[in-house]
Amino acid sequence: MDMKEFVYQGPDTGPEQGAVHWEAPSNIALVKYWGKHGNQLPMNPSLSFTLDACHTRTRLEFFQSGGSMPVEVLLDGQPAPSFEPKIRQFLERALPFQPFLKGYGFRVHTHNSFPHSSGIASSASGMAALALCLMDLERLFAPGLSAGQFRRKASFLARLGSGSAARSVDGGLVLWGTHPGLEGSSDAYGVPYPEKVHPVFQDYHDTILLVDKGEKAVSSTVGHGLMDGHPFAGARFEQARQNLDRLGPVLAAGDLDGFVDLVESEALTLHAMMLSSSPSFILMKPGTLAILEKLRAFRKTSGHPVCFTLDAGANVHVLYPAASREAVYPFIQEALLEHCHQGHHICDRVGRGARRLAGAGS
Ligand code: DP6
Repeated sequence: MDMKEFVYQGPDTGPEQGAVHWEAPSNIALVKYWGKHGNQLPMNPSLSFTLDACHTRTRLEFFQSGGSMPVEVLLDGQPAPSFEPKIRQFLERALPFQPFLKGYGFRVHTHNSFPHSSGIASSASGMAALALCLMDLERLFAPGLSAGQFRRKASFLARLGSGSAARSVDGGLVLWGTHPGLEGSSDAYGVPYPEKVHPVFQDYHDTILLVDKGEKAVSSTVGHGLMDGHPFAGARFEQARQNLDRLGPVLAAGDLDGFVDLVESEALTLHAMMLSSSPSFILMKPGTLAILEKLRAFRKTSGHPVCFTLDAGANVHVLYPAASREAVYPFIQEALLEHCHQGHHICDRVGRGARRLAGAGS
């Protein structure tokens, strides 16, 4: 893949010091990314809803320094040295595309809207917020960047930090991964889904049920690695491509029954991959399974097109159109919260994407 367009080639003098401030959302995949190769490239295209309430705010302070890129990280104002290796690795990966970074030291102030211990991955929103801050710094060197170039390279850089972070820059439905027939699609960055989308999907709800708030049982690096040599890998990557094709008419027509079928099948296949890898992982908890069963029974009796999706963990994302909220949310409260850790859940919905925050002080 030709990455040349992302290599910074502008002036090499920039600000002595300053700060930039961005908010980036989390996202929930409908077609899952599971399996990668090379420099953070996906084995299949994926598609996600951008979220709104779950986000990371990052304020990046930069100051000219000797060339060793010192990094300090503060989470909610407190020093968080355990985050530093991951952020340093991210900066090292960004360096070939932003050589001016070498001259700076960084202080990263970060805040997640959701608790760190919630089991919700903060890497997508966190890496996207940081990538957007780096692009703001690039803009101080070369102010001529168009809005499109800015967002595309931000997604490109975010991907280097965490694959799913490539889908946390734009709002609505975001596609990451080259796919024939989907114009502008790329393995290198995420783009707004380029096809027609029915308005019902513009304000879809996602109630996130926090079944287990522990550390992730399988890290994403180990997880994606499980697909190398997996007996079903080829069929799975092909299935993801087919599901993306099948989702096209479903999204265009607002076919909610078709949506339910595809989204649940993707979630269960993701877990099926982990159940059948070597080593294998059972990431659902008894509470997860109870929720899935109750949700399917409710859908059958009520007729509301509510469905679930899952990440690589025990938590459940309950997806439903805004018009079903009055029936679905009371059901969640009465029947599903008992399976959550201390009843914890987050009411989220589709959001509009990352935004620059005031108060950077630069
Ligand atoms: C199950 O983006 O966390 O959430 O690229 O190694 O950082 P890395 O992986 P990551 O993987 C997310 C996998 C998933 C599915 C998805 O979001 O598409």
